[in-house]
Amino acid sequence: MSTLWVGTSWKMTKNLAEGRAWAGGLREHLEGSAPTGVQPFVIPSFTATTTVRGILGEGSPVLLGVQNAHWEDAGAWTGEVSVPQAQDAGAQIVEIGHSERREHFGETVATTRLKVAAALRHGLTPLLCIGESAAIKAAGGSTEHILEQAAGALEGLGTEELSRVVIAYEPIWAIGESGRPATVEELIEPFASLGRAYSDRVTGILYGGSVNLDNAADLLGIEHVTGLFVGRTAWRLEGYLELLRIAEAHAAR
Ligand code: 13P
Repeated sequence: MSTLWVGTSWKMTKNLAEGRAWAGGLREHLEGSAPTGVQPFVIPSFTATTTVRGILGEGSPVLLGVQNAHWEDAGAWTGEVSVPQAQDAGAQIVEIGHSERREHFGETVATTRLKVAAALRHGLTPLLCIGESAAIKAAGGSTEHILEQAAGALEGLGTEELSRVVIAYEPIWAIGESGRPATVEELIEPFASLGRAYSDRVTGILYGGSVNLDNAADLLGIEHVTGLFVGRTAWRLEGYLELLRIAEAHAAR
């Protein structure tokens, strides 16, 4: 069984004091080693990257990420952060193509492809987010849509490069305050399709969108799900620690 990746993006939440408290609490709890069979990760705001790196420490069992990065290494791109800059700040993961970035900041299949390539070029793990809207789901187009998003972003990668990619399937209708948790039944077909296309070829295929302490174990039980990408439930450290316990128990089955 593959390692279960369980992590959180803080999105645009937490000031430095809050970030320090969360990361410090996690470090204390883990005492230098990840739960067996689980790969924890945290993706703070850019402004907290070096702070969280410092608290977790070099060689931490918790991987650290950024929520976006530009595809160029450097240049006149006001307001952007490059992969080498993210790496310099201590990041090991680059989140790419979250639906909030596709919806509000013009992220496209073309830009996700450039960003995946940039992350891989510098040895960082691309965490590629894909997911369909409620309208696409209602029209019956979910699977086709997410396979297109994935294929477009991963086009042209060799076997070794692809093997370093993590995919997160996050249906837009399931994300955030306005989302509703997906049922296991709704996720069987998308994960079967993603699994057929990618399960032997990538590092992992995660589920995200209204993951909570009541549904996490069931979500991990879906075939081809190899982890969870979590927002609100994990923003409280206690919630995140409980998710790690649930994943560890699942990995031990
Ligand atoms: P929620 O868990 O708050 O629905 O957010 C999921 C998400 O978008 C993680 O990237």
